[in-house]
Amino acid sequence: MKSLLFSRFLLLLPWVLIVIIVLDIDSSRAPLPALAPRGGGGSSGGARPAAARAPPQRRPEAALPTIYAITPTYSRPVQKAELTRLANTFRQVARLHWILVEDAAARSELVSRFVAGAGLPCTHLHVPTPRRYKRPGLPRATEQRNAGLAWLRQRHQHLPPPQPGVLFFADDDNTYSLELFQEMRTTRKVSVWPVGLVGGRRYERPVVENGKVVGWYTGWRADRPFAIDMAGFAVSLQVILSHPKAVFKRRGSQPGMQESDFLKQITTVEELEPKANNCTKVLVWHTRTEKVNLANEPKYHLDTVNIEV
Ligand code: UGA
Ligand code: MN
Repeated sequence: MKSLLFSRFLLLLPWVLIVIIVLDIDSSRAPLPALAPRGGGGSSGGARPAAARAPPQRRPEAALPTIYAITPTYSRPVQKAELTRLANTFRQVARLHWILVEDAAARSELVSRFVAGAGLPCTHLHVPTPRRYKRPGLPRATEQRNAGLAWLRQRHQHLPPPQPGVLFFADDDNTYSLELFQEMRTTRKVSVWPVGLVGGRRYERPVVENGKVVGWYTGWRADRPFAIDMAGFAVSLQVILSHPKAVFKRRGSQPGMQESDFLKQITTVEELEPKANNCTKVLVWHTRTEKVNLANEPKYHLDTVNIEV
């Protein structure tokens, strides 16, 4: 009886091996989605079957335009938490270059250490906001975004023809879905999409008809030429380089008008490219972090250790 079982086993063994080998070849040949973020978190990754056993593939990342994210940031109790959330998102996006610009007279130790361990390509800049502009009611991060733009232009000045790239302004407190990066990656000139939790409404969005932006759904200052938050658009590197004078301006600028003042230097409403299913999906949220309660923080250092928070 035992020898009968054993001979059956020997008979089946080669067939089982063949099936395993064939399955393995098949799964390693499965095509990969071209625009999926690193780690495959995107929703358009349907082309790949559940082939978890397949060996890691080299994705065709070299062909992807680089996404440059300019993030102004300033020192406050929640800063490291905000940057951590942001890095956790950006780390999952292929070919993303993070341009972190500190609102400070020098690079801080906290941000320098953070950048060193962030695990993604980073450029760490700094420029202080002049004290006269640090007042409620005045636009924020003007100098920092301009420093990011200047770095980008300088870097590509001597590199003809410029590598394909897309720029977007990523404030440190917003919430970004991975799908947003797939959408903005195909920006030809200037692309736009809805932003959640902004303008006193659940969302603001460009109104699209026949594939063109024809107006704005917004609850706040609908007279803005581009009634859109900083998180609602991306610009191709080409456009940034071919408009070397386009910057954020302090003079005459009011909060909420920075986006319009900048966009009207580089594009027109007719030219805008609607993303996120003709601007019907919210892929980014203008979240704002609550001011932290430090009422019980001792005036002088009491703990036996010094901890970076
Ligand atoms: C809104 C817009 O979403 C911002 O893009 C715009 O810059 C801002 O209004 C404005 O009034 O200028 P809001 O949430 O009110 O955003 O602004 P914050 O998130 O507080 O600041 C925007 C960015 O600037 C953040 O990345 C923040 O870290 C940075 N920031 C803020 C500085 O670098 N320095 C500051 O003193 C304040
Ligand atoms: Mn914000």
